[in-house]
Amino acid sequence: MTLDAPPRAATLRRLRLLGLFAPVVFVAVLLGLRPLVVATFDLRTAHLLLGATLFLSASAFGWAMYSLLGRTHDAVVQAERQTAALLERDRIARELHDSLAQVLSVAHLRLRTLEGRPCIRGDERVRAEIDDLATLCREAHRDVREAIVGLKDAHHPERTLLDHLESFVDVFERTSGIPTTLTTDVEHDLGLSDAAQVQVVRVVQEALTNVRKHAAARRAGVRISARDGHTEFVVEDDGTGFDAHHPRPGDGFGLTTMRERTESVGGTLRIDSAPGRGTRVVARVPVGVLSA
Ligand SMILES: Nc1ncnc2c1ncn2[C@@H]1O[C@H](COP(=O)(O)OP(=O)(O)O)[C@@H](O)[C@H]1O
Ligand SMILES: [Mg+2]
Repeated sequence: MTLDAPPRAATLRRLRLLGLFAPVVFVAVLLGLRPLVVATFDLRTAHLLLGATLFLSASAFGWAMYSLLGRTHDAVVQAERQTAALLERDRIARELHDSLAQVLSVAHLRLRTLEGRPCIRGDERVRAEIDDLATLCREAHRDVREAIVGLKDAHHPERTLLDHLESFVDVFERTSGIPTTLTTDVEHDLGLSDAAQVQVVRVVQEALTNVRKHAAARRAGVRISARDGHTEFVVEDDGTGFDAHHPRPGDGFGLTTMRERTESVGGTLRIDSAPGRGTRVVARVPVGVLSA
């Protein structure tokens, strides 16, 4: 996610010098031209011409400075906001890591130890309950780890969206054990706003988390392509698939949130899936949507 960089110090210095000297130089040039204008036209017309030129130029210069200051101010405010958001994400990631992730990991280990005790092994019902609980803790721990990776990944403003997705796909492949590829036919910058980039990363992350949790897939892939003023992100797997039109009780909010995220930046989300036929999640996002 690239930050909208505020103007650099050198640019600001040049602008300040321009603001200081341009009016002086302009007035000097106008005064220098005055004898020529007076000699060419009668006095009244010459003064009218010089006055009008001065008035129009001063107005244009004032307006240019006014809008430049406005733009600079907006860029600074936006950069400050993004920095604050990134710091906050970093803090949340650290807190998640130090609290929830640790607790889940310890709980998982202790449940596994408990499961192995002779008194528990003798009671199949209790052993199965403990096994379920341990599996739940391990799954939740993985979810939290993935959320932490997502949050921490955002803390690299110099990295592009492709860098973020590549690094997430790498981590996903390692932690899930599902061979996963990232392919793209877009060579240039994807042209998405900062807001759209944040949402896209989250959508791809949730789609891949679903592959790990539900698909029992042999392989998965993320494809990025550009067409008709849109960038398309496809996450697909060759797993169990599901009936995307009939949510089941107990399903989470992942799919709904993915749709809301895509629509919040003017895009659309499509899910192609059927039992036994794998799943394809397609997020289409218009390029160049202004940051929210
Ligand atoms: N890639 C996938 N393969 C198989 N089933 C999936 C896939 N993605 C989603 N599902 C199904 O859709 C349901 C809803 O997913 P989601 O809204 O992300 O909630 P959650 O992941 O918390 O269950 C899942 O419980 C699962 O049954
Ligand atoms: Mg989910």
